[in-house]
Amino acid sequence: LYLKNSNKSIPTKYLYDDTGSKLFEQICNTEEYYLTRTEKQILNKYSSEISKISNFEEVFELGSGSSKKTKILILEGLKKLTKLTYSSLDISEKALEMSSRQLKNISPFLRVKLFKGDFINDIIKLKPNQKPKLYLFLGSTLGNFNNQLAVKFLNNVSNIMQKNDYFLLGVDKIKNHKIITSAYNDKKGITKKFNKNILSFLNKKFKLNFDKNNFDHFAEFNKKKSQIEMYLEAVTDHKINFPNQETIKINNGDKILTEISRKFSDNTLEVLFKKSELKVIRNFSDNKKYFSLYLLKSMKYS
Ligand code: SAH
Ligand code: AVI
Repeated sequence: LYLKNSNKSIPTKYLYDDTGSKLFEQICNTEEYYLTRTEKQILNKYSSEISKISNFEEVFELGSGSSKKTKILILEGLKKLTKLTYSSLDISEKALEMSSRQLKNISPFLRVKLFKGDFINDIIKLKPNQKPKLYLFLGSTLGNFNNQLAVKFLNNVSNIMQKNDYFLLGVDKIKNHKIITSAYNDKKGITKKFNKNILSFLNKKFKLNFDKNNFDHFAEFNKKKSQIEMYLEAVTDHKINFPNQETIKINNGDKILTEISRKFSDNTLEVLFKKSELKVIRNFSDNKKYFSLYLLKSMKYS
């Protein structure tokens, strides 16, 4: 936790305890959150093409959430396969549980493997077999990484990829700022609940005494950085007590960063892929170009 400096922040992964994972699913269904439904449309339209090009026999997803959208690709693969292994690596047990429920009983030919872990640190430990694989990183979760971490993460993926593997990456694109901002300020206040829930997780995990009522949800678009910045803003002076007797003073108006969500341009992505040794095979998008699915290969093999 980085609460002492003037730039206060909490690691984004702490948004995803059981409650957080459920709230994220609800966010996906809000009117304002265009990301999920747009990515789903693209998958519905192009999954057969993606399957034809990549010829995958296994699917390996990073940060799967509920795997609802993934089901579209799995069903596509099962049209021609008599054996398909789907693996998911997610930090949230609730996500893995939702994933398993989503894919249960859809086919006797499907094998589901769930791994609880961190997609930044644990991905390099994977020892993949020789089966042609499709790696998935959907939902624009890449946008939650700053540029340095994004390059590191993409390089890790590129490094574990073998000759016949493909990588399908979902990214949110830069667009009208009002549309972006309202996706993180939904009328029903679900994003606000999701943001504040990070404090309940911290209280449980680190035995702290954060009070949700002392904070407001604040999410704004930073034009210069082309990213949403989600904060918890203190509405009163108060203190946080740590189990080791240490206290931290929070002042009215202090902002704690809980998440960035980058909105990419074609140019930024081109540079990012180059730095990460990834080659674009295809770019699938919706009519409004709100969201993109990139089908990539490791440059090692091109
Ligand atoms: N891909 C899904 C879910 C996106 S939400 C979709 O498109 O809807 C982000 C997901 O990443 C959540 O399921 C969360 O639990 C997981 N996650 C967040 N940080 C993680 C980390 N460090 N390691 C592994 N999984 C993580
Ligand atoms: C998972 N991630 C890509 C979501 C996003 O849009 O950055 C998380 C989220 N935060 C607020 N709403 C949704």
